[in-house]
Amino acid sequence: MPDDSQLHPLPVMHHPLAFDMIDAVLHAPQMNPGAYNHFALAPMSGALGAEITGIDLGDLSDAAMAEIERALTNHLVLAFRGQDLAPADQIAFARRLGPVEPWPYAKPMDGFPELTELISGPVDINNFGGSWHTDSSTFDQPPAYTTLYCVSCPPVGGDTSWANQYLAWETLSPEMREALRGMRLLHSVARSFGDHSRSKGSADVTTTPVSVPPEHEDLENLHPVARTHPVTGRTALYVNAGFSSNFEGRSETESRPLMAALMAHGATPEFTCRLRWQPGTLVVWDNRCTVHYAHNDYRGQPRVMRRAVVTGERPF
Ligand code: SIN
Repeated sequence: MPDDSQLHPLPVMHHPLAFDMIDAVLHAPQMNPGAYNHFALAPMSGALGAEITGIDLGDLSDAAMAEIERALTNHLVLAFRGQDLAPADQIAFARRLGPVEPWPYAKPMDGFPELTELISGPVDINNFGGSWHTDSSTFDQPPAYTTLYCVSCPPVGGDTSWANQYLAWETLSPEMREALRGMRLLHSVARSFGDHSRSKGSADVTTTPVSVPPEHEDLENLHPVARTHPVTGRTALYVNAGFSSNFEGRSETESRPLMAALMAHGATPEFTCRLRWQPGTLVVWDNRCTVHYAHNDYRGQPRVMRRAVVTGERPF
C-alpha cells in the first residue's frame, strides 16, 4: 500500500449528501411504465421496482420473456406475486436470463447445485444480507441478476429494500462525478467474510452457515466506481457496504470517509423501494444498478428463501 501522504487528497463531500434534498428525483419508467401484453405491472415507488401479477413463471413463452426483460431493464427490480415454483422451475427461469452459477459460500440445496437456501431460524440474531450491498461484487464477474423466491416468511417483518444506483450517480454534483470517473474500488472477501466482518459474525448465529472456501479467501477485484450498464449505457454508482474495501492505491483508513459518504448517499430513501414478501413471491433484480438490504426485524420467526444468481460481465 503506498504512503498516502504522496498522493493527491481524495475528494471530500462537504455536505453529507452531495445533492440538495429539496431536488425532486424520479426514475421515469416508474411514472410511465408503458404497455405489457403478458402481465399486469404496478410500480412500487418513484425510484424503482414493480410488482407483477397475471403470469406463471413456470410456463413462459419467448414473447412473455422478452416483455419481462424489457420490464427488468426499465424497473430494475421485479416482484412476481402468486408463483408456485419448484427448485427446478426457479433455475429454469434464471437460465432464461443467462448462465446460472453456484454460489460457493454456502451448501447448495440437495440435488440443485445452483440454488442456495437462505434460512433464518427462530433463534437467529443476525440475518443474511443485512447491509446495503450488491451481490458478490468481489467476483471478477459479479452476478448480473439475482432471483430470490420466498418459501415462507414472517407474518410481518423480513422485508427487503432496494436502491436505484443510477439515481445515486446522477444526483452527485458534477464535480464529484468528474472526480470519481476513472477511480476504482477494491472489493474484497477478507472485508466481507474476514475475521472482523459482520458476515463472519453472522455465520455463527444464522441457520444458513456461510463459509469461505480456501481458494476464495484472498479473492479481491478492482471495479470502477462509475459503472456503465451494458444494456442501457447509463452510469450507476458502484460502491457497497458489504464488500467495498478501499480506493485503488489508497489505504482503508484514507478511503473510509468518502466511501461512507457515497454509501449513505446511495441509500437515500428517495432512491429506494421496499417489498413485503409473501410465500410464492419471486423477485429478480439487476445487481449492476441497484443495492439491496434485508431487514432484520423478525426475531423468533422463521424465514426461508431460495436464491439463484445469473452470471454477469466484468464491470466497466
Ligand atoms: C440477499 O442479500 O441476497 C438476500 C436478501 C434477502 O434475503 O432479503
